Amino acid sequence: MTVLVFLDPSRPDGRLADATAPALLATDQGATRGDGIFESLLAVNGLPRKVDAHLSRLGRSAHSLDLAIPGPDAWMRAIATALTAFAAASPPAPDEHGNTNIVIKLFASRGVEGANTPTAWVQASAVPPALAEQRARGLDVLLLERGYDSTIAQRAPWLLLGAKTLSYAVNMAALRHAHARGADDVIFTSSDGHVLEGPTSSVLLAHVSDDDGTPIKRLITPNLDSGILPGTTQGALFAAAREAGWELGYGPVEPADLLDADAVWLISSIRLLAPVNRIDGRDIGTAEVRARLTAELSALLAQTH
Ligand SMILES: Cc1ncc(COP(=O)(O)O)c(C=O)c1O
Repeated sequence: MTVLVFLDPSRPDGRLADATAPALLATDQGATRGDGIFESLLAVNGLPRKVDAHLSRLGRSAHSLDLAIPGPDAWMRAIATALTAFAAASPPAPDEHGNTNIVIKLFASRGVEGANTPTAWVQASAVPPALAEQRARGLDVLLLERGYDSTIAQRAPWLLLGAKTLSYAVNMAALRHAHARGADDVIFTSSDGHVLEGPTSSVLLAHVSDDDGTPIKRLITPNLDSGILPGTTQGALFAAAREAGWELGYGPVEPADLLDADAVWLISSIRLLAPVNRIDGRDIGTAEVRARLTAELSALLAQTH
């Protein structure tokens, strides 16, 4: 079940559309060139989470692509329409914490060729059940080269690294490559040997003891200027973890740092924290520490808005 709401200047709350019928023109450049942007966020108990962070990132992506998209108020009203329609048509069952979850996606494409008017729409759908399973079971991950060095984003802004564009075919191909080799997911590396991000996630690692065995609480994520998407989940989790006494750090992170960590996660708005069991076949930390830290950080993330 999917609900679609198009942003439409003549309909302030958006225009509901039948998701099973054609809704985009075949000449829309989102379809013909992948020329557009998107966001994925979770609505918990009917409230979109981190919505300001998602709308700001949508605005930054739009700026990178020189796309004139509708303002935050139009998106908020369309999101509300989509949530109401989805909850009425397909009320989500409560999760293990008694919360209901709905996936909201925001899309803006460059619109039909020649018209120069972006097409913008909101989609509401159920959370894929595989994600809860991944959180519980953990992930086998492959390191795959992205092919760019970690400083390319500044030198080549036309690559749109760090924007959340509709051109995700490469990311999906990387995931299929991993699946064909029996792995669940991917961590991209740069040509100069830095850890970047997953195809649909940020990378996070934790240390809970120093080299001499002293207990510490340290979270590290790759530096945000290395051509990666700044994750809203990473941002929210860092803010909550700082309050809870964690020391926070940004990369550069190298593959050896992942293998040395006490725990590694792939994190994103819909999947939340999925622990990594193995990278390129090598175990990361211990199952006990991984489970304990996943529970602790997931509880912190659940408190964020
Ligand atoms: C490439 C990439 N990096 C990171 C993320 C995590 O972003 P967020 O935490 O805002 O969902 C995503 C989310 O889909 C992504 O596609």
